Amino acid sequence: MIPKISTLGGYLHEYQKSVANPIGFWSNIAETFHWRKKWDEVLNWDFNKAEIEWFKGGKLNITENIFERNLFLRYEQIALIWEPNDPNEKAKTYTYNQLFTEVKKFANVLKNHDVKKGDRVAIYMPMIPELTIAMLACARIGAIHSIVFAGFSANALSERIIDAEAKILITADGGFRGSKSFDLKSIADEALERCPSIKSNIVVKRTGKDILWHKEIDFWWHDEMEKVDDIALAITMDAEDPLFILYTSGSTGKPKGVVHTIGGYMVYAAYTFRNVFQYSDGDIFFCAADIGWITGHSYIVYGPLLEGATTLMFEGIPTFPNAGRYWKIIEKYQVNQFYTSPTAIRSLIAMGQNWVENLNLKSLKVLGTVGEPINEEAWHWYHDHVGNNKCPIVDTWWQTETGGIMISPLAGIIPTKPAFATLPLPGIQPMILDNEGKKLNANSVEGNLCIKYPWPGIARTHWHDHERFKESYFSQFPGYYFTGDGVKRDEDGYYRILGRMDDVINVSGHRLGTAEIENAINEHPLVSESAVVGYSHPIKGQGIYAYVVCTEIPKKDEGMELKNSLRIGVSKMISAIAKPDIIQFTTGLPKTRSGKIMRRILRKIAENSEDYGDITTLTNPEIVKELIERHKKLLEDTL
Ligand code: PRX
Repeated sequence: MIPKISTLGGYLHEYQKSVANPIGFWSNIAETFHWRKKWDEVLNWDFNKAEIEWFKGGKLNITENIFERNLFLRYEQIALIWEPNDPNEKAKTYTYNQLFTEVKKFANVLKNHDVKKGDRVAIYMPMIPELTIAMLACARIGAIHSIVFAGFSANALSERIIDAEAKILITADGGFRGSKSFDLKSIADEALERCPSIKSNIVVKRTGKDILWHKEIDFWWHDEMEKVDDIALAITMDAEDPLFILYTSGSTGKPKGVVHTIGGYMVYAAYTFRNVFQYSDGDIFFCAADIGWITGHSYIVYGPLLEGATTLMFEGIPTFPNAGRYWKIIEKYQVNQFYTSPTAIRSLIAMGQNWVENLNLKSLKVLGTVGEPINEEAWHWYHDHVGNNKCPIVDTWWQTETGGIMISPLAGIIPTKPAFATLPLPGIQPMILDNEGKKLNANSVEGNLCIKYPWPGIARTHWHDHERFKESYFSQFPGYYFTGDGVKRDEDGYYRILGRMDDVINVSGHRLGTAEIENAINEHPLVSESAVVGYSHPIKGQGIYAYVVCTEIPKKDEGMELKNSLRIGVSKMISAIAKPDIIQFTTGLPKTRSGKIMRRILRKIAENSEDYGDITTLTNPEIVKELIERHKKLLEDTL
């Protein structure tokens, strides 16, 4: 197991070591795992070419590190607790041995469907145990999983399947979310019409609702599991073979397939899990994210299971059957570490304190947040009412591309400060650069957050598009990994994340590219152009504000209709999470002489700010007045 840092002095010591000798530092951590063959070289890297390799030549299988390595001590220990959406339905638990059996069986199902090492498997599932089983079964046989969040549309799913050229899809008839159920199979069917690479579609029965069945490619999970035994040896993999692809939004239209490789990701997910959350044997760890995002990959599945933890997976939402659901789950299972998003906390604050009071949350030792900046009010509420003033809050900053947590307190070890992610983890060397690329070495500075040295969890490429990978993170500030985030370092050297510097917005902790949303809006025949920006939203962190150019501005009723159809269009093209909160029709957008939209002005208007900066370089400065007037009118109409 990975040794835990247990004091502030210990952290400082480890940090110094990790900077002075990163190779020695990470190879010591990697030694705690089971390698079928040890690596030839710890690290090979060149940020100018965006080339990074960790533990090259090492041979391993990540599931052998989850199961065979842990079984001796944890055969009968619970590995996975599954809490269903409906509290009246029976929860499920899997011991390490039971989970192992399911994973091996499903690995054999995959083999029966001709899935081989290196093949891509698309997974589009609700939060049910089969999702965890499916991903680990892929890893067992060396297939690359590509999980698509179940809230994405048929169009978004097919785009991802086509890009990854997935061979099979694993889905479910549907899922439950609060008082509603949703279909997945029908959405998958629609997506598969465009995906000739898919040879089989394996379907878990969850809702039991009627579905269309295509007998050439559809197979029930339970039927397939009956045909196989539970003997499945782990395939030997290279440390640098891909483990998974996870699509995420960038500043251009198309989502990018972030690739993580086995050895480095394994070491980093486990190291950060153990140290940030200070997990001790026997603790119950509850990460409330969805496995469709990186947080679920690293801190529901890989990190905890590698470290022999008991991990809790929850199917539902925090407000069903009422706003006390998270706290009830914590009480029911005596959860020790709880990890969620600031948006979830803010939405629960809005429901009132009663839900969290009078419950026994004494088991809690650590609270975590992720995905977006946490405001001080939410931080204090979480700290005082959930943590009863005694649990440290770990505000963890990281990204899909970083594989694991990068800047965060180690719980109970690094003193916290509301809204600050505090200090970098050992092995992480942040650097703040100004817009010209000058290093800002002092404290009390603000600028672009870059990382100057690789860590094992860093993504290796974009699937089939290394150029775009290089361009996305290594071109703005040559020699550095650029995160896309702005950051402030205060007088104590503590980091506070300020948010994205690029055209990415963060809505309820979900990362969305404004270009993606604009493309969806522009599909409408009455729209000639659009520009999407984020604005401060009291619950979601950021809301989506769309400026839509129509040749003729619609009248009131027509306008409502058009807004509805634009929102439906965005849901269909991307997901309901990408629907604009505010749509403003306009006759034009502010443009520079080179034809670029000046988004700075649009952001200011959306934020009700009056400081628009210099607008003399615009070709159409008169449009600013129109935009402001229309914005004011919109506000009046909604009051
Ligand atoms: O802007 C940062 C924000 O989320 C972005 C990464 O999004 P994604 O790849 O979807 O991963 C989210 C979960 C790891 C970052 O570029 N972000 C993430 N964590 C924080 C944060 N912003 C402020 N504070 C955080 N703790």
